[in-house]
Amino acid sequence: MPDQVMSNSKIIGSYIEKTPGSEKLAREALNVLPSGIAHDSRYLKPYALYIDKAFGPHKWDVDGNRYIDYFGGHGALLLGHCHPEVTSAVQDALAAGTQFGANHPREVEWADQVIKMVPSAERVRFTSSGTEATLMALRLARSFTGKNKFVRFKTHFHGWHDHMTAGYTSHFDGGATAGVVDGVADNVVLVSPQDISEIKSVLKADKDIAAVIVEPTGSSFGMVPMSKEFLQTVRVMTEEENVLFIFDEVVTGFRCSPGGAQKAFGIKPDLTTLAKILAGGLPGGAVSGRKDILDDLDFERAALLGREKIGHPGTFNANPVSAAAGIAALKIIESSDACEKANQSAAVLRGKFNEILEKQNIPWVAYGTFSGVHLYMNRDGHAIHRSSFNPNEIGYADLKNKDKVLVTKLRLAMAINGVDFNNSPGAQLSASHTQEDLEFTSDAFNEAIKMLKNDGEL
Ligand SMILES: Cc1ncc(COP(=O)(O)O)c(C=O)c1O
Repeated sequence: MPDQVMSNSKIIGSYIEKTPGSEKLAREALNVLPSGIAHDSRYLKPYALYIDKAFGPHKWDVDGNRYIDYFGGHGALLLGHCHPEVTSAVQDALAAGTQFGANHPREVEWADQVIKMVPSAERVRFTSSGTEATLMALRLARSFTGKNKFVRFKTHFHGWHDHMTAGYTSHFDGGATAGVVDGVADNVVLVSPQDISEIKSVLKADKDIAAVIVEPTGSSFGMVPMSKEFLQTVRVMTEEENVLFIFDEVVTGFRCSPGGAQKAFGIKPDLTTLAKILAGGLPGGAVSGRKDILDDLDFERAALLGREKIGHPGTFNANPVSAAAGIAALKIIESSDACEKANQSAAVLRGKFNEILEKQNIPWVAYGTFSGVHLYMNRDGHAIHRSSFNPNEIGYADLKNKDKVLVTKLRLAMAINGVDFNNSPGAQLSASHTQEDLEFTSDAFNEAIKMLKNDGEL
């Protein structure tokens, strides 16, 4: 953000005044961490908050300020922070040892629970993260089909390994991003997330496609939504062309519904990648899906079928503490209305935001699917009809086109008013947010819009 914007801004002044402890830590962090951070989406100017503790839908910074949290552990915390049953399961597991270097009962129970809940899951292989899960899904698809290439949708995110970098926020021509060799990028075919004819012609023309991978509710948890009909068409096309269909349910799994987006849409992929909620707020991931495909990870099945087994070690795969948290969280989600509650709260918040935008005459729209809230920030100044707004009719580049200074100031203004808005900018709701939290958040949003007006941004 240009220095001039920073120094003239009342919003930035108030933020710095409210958060001296975070400012001090951020200065120290710059000496030891690139950009002072550990995850790109925690990058914020002049600096991001340093959090001390969190409970339910709330978190507290090192200066003791409370925030309503809409990051939700990057989506991992559908039940909110420190759910008592999850915490107690973790404490029990922790006291019994954190790393056995051996099989353990909880990994069997965890896999069983996943198979019970996720329609496409016949077998499960645990990993340590979502990135590792999509890496293994792609490797399984290649090994199983004997084909080399993958289709990805532009702007969809699947972690940060080499196959997933081009076409997310840059390099939409498919060119290799920094540090990735051309050969890897050459095997990724990027297609439009909004034009079904493009993927259709790719699948018809190129017989070396092993799989199509998708964020099933669309890029960035529905910021660029993907319709059920689009997914159904891709499912039919992939079956016709003998191509595997991978649902990346790292965010949507156990969130859209207890069985994820695939259950909500009634579409069965061949492989499903999971993480975040899967491990109840601790590190963990998994690739799951058809048994015949996961057989390529099975010593005896692969030998029997005369196939080369895919190697897969991983020190923290199915870590017992993550397993305990995961089992506890998934059982609660399976037997409660947690997903529905988060979905309903998101709908309430979208409605409240739209009323405020209408009253304050701001040509933005709050929209989203399931438990997500996004803001269409309308940089090109289109006429807005909120009641009939349909993001599927807006190009993906337009939906993603945000003014960085405005987004930053909105997030800072929300923080000043006690809300940690995510960097979408928007919110991922949990089952722990209450009506009172939603009221508090919409008051904060109302104030934040006024502050942006006073700062000359709107
Ligand atoms: C859809 C999707 N896939 C994969 C990943 C990568 O997961 P992880 O951060 O656990 O590596 C993410 C992370 O946000 C994601 O949103």
